[in-house]
Amino acid sequence: MPRHLSKLQTAREFEHQEASKIPPHARPGFHLTPLVGWMNDPNGFCYYNGCYHLFYQYHPYNTVWGPMHWGHAASADLLHWDYLPCALAPDTAADAAGCFSGSAVPLPDGQLLLLYTGVQPAGIGHKELQAQCVAVGDGRDFAKDAANPVITAAMLPAGYSAVDFRDPKIWQEGGQYYCVAACRHETEQGSILLFESPDGHTWHYLTVLDASHDALGKMWECPDFFALDGAQVLLVSPQEMRATADGEFHAGEGTVAILGRYDPATHAFARQSVQAIDYGLDFYAPQTTLAPDGRRIMVAWMQSWATAPSAPCAGGRPWFGRMTLPRELRVQNGRLYQTPVREIETLWHDKVELTGVTVEGCAALPGIGGRSVDLTVRVDAAASPACRRFTLRFAAGGALYNEIRCDLDRGELAFDRSHGGSRRDCAHTRHIQAAPKDGVLTLRLILDKDCAELFVNDGERALSAVLDTPPEAQGITFAAEGGAVRLDAVQHTLG
Ligand code: FRU
Repeated sequence: MPRHLSKLQTAREFEHQEASKIPPHARPGFHLTPLVGWMNDPNGFCYYNGCYHLFYQYHPYNTVWGPMHWGHAASADLLHWDYLPCALAPDTAADAAGCFSGSAVPLPDGQLLLLYTGVQPAGIGHKELQAQCVAVGDGRDFAKDAANPVITAAMLPAGYSAVDFRDPKIWQEGGQYYCVAACRHETEQGSILLFESPDGHTWHYLTVLDASHDALGKMWECPDFFALDGAQVLLVSPQEMRATADGEFHAGEGTVAILGRYDPATHAFARQSVQAIDYGLDFYAPQTTLAPDGRRIMVAWMQSWATAPSAPCAGGRPWFGRMTLPRELRVQNGRLYQTPVREIETLWHDKVELTGVTVEGCAALPGIGGRSVDLTVRVDAAASPACRRFTLRFAAGGALYNEIRCDLDRGELAFDRSHGGSRRDCAHTRHIQAAPKDGVLTLRLILDKDCAELFVNDGERALSAVLDTPPEAQGITFAAEGGAVRLDAVQHTLG
């Protein structure tokens, strides 16, 4: 007699068996990857019972997207992750077609509540339907609410779609629970709806916080909503954006931070500014949590739907997808800034510090190189009047390289991985504004084997990308055009 295993037990047994075949060196050093199979959005990011928990959209059985489960990992420092067993499988009437993205909040009784999108299969005369579901547990095993779905399309005002209604982000405030969820309106397109609950189980609709009005893409996904440094921040991941003339947004999926004012009495949110969250090639669906020390920490899927099919590791490995390095957020000068979590300093070793270096033409610098590094370069534009263009090549070796080109006069930067080894015809370059501040342009580049994160001017802009370049390409070189460049460089090897 074959044993009867539930969908969740089957997933747990499968991932346990298959994961043992993946040696640790086949993964990045400190970026979270799925235990096995496919990963997309971060879910349920929270601090619970003394450590961070990070769940993720998960298809354990393949390296391409499929019926969505929730994978699960926990970490004390946001860098070293321990895998926990698969948390949710699509095994009830309310979520039989998938446990889509959602969030988590600790309850007063010490349990953890997960709020996620349950997808119901298409039926005669209707497409798949999305509604919000609850599961409660001890941080390892979760029981789904018998009343699921707890937030249904019946609660939506006229014009909102039950086909595109997903990704609830929950928080607790003033004795109540709130969540924002994304929903598509027939004319306003992507919209963010606010709901309220006394207990996390019984919900009612409050208001629409903001909408695309068909200007910032079509459907919006994966909202987050929080106060930070005196501002209110709404994060969304829009689908089908048009590129904007000012270069802020590229075509396709994007990530948008809307900074504004929020009135908790009326629940009215008024926009003040709109910006991209990350300007790179591989970044989507960010989610935040509050650290015990008050920091607002963000993590995102280090991929996008456009880049996933052509990503370097598609097909070649038993896992696909990764999270960004978690980042600390702050609001400064009306912008959202982000810097790597300070915990990364615990990985620092073998510091190399070079001050007042002059580079003419092209040069390698003593001690600078590698693929697991935290490198900060301060380009002294004020002391380099003849230098028009500064180039930093990394993951370079043989004919392959990736590069950051800085046009110091125009205050523009290009991140270019088109010579990094890809055989795919997709976007490999992004251009961003990057002007020197008080005469200095600061670039902080974090490499973790085959991915790169660049933070410009202390986190004013960030840019994430997965690299195709083979591990032997360890070189980092510097080049100046037009005239010499003066710079300082500090490198820490990571590991
Ligand atoms: C965003 C997203 C979410 C959805 C999930 C499904 O990447 O499309 O809107 O919940 O992925 O895996």
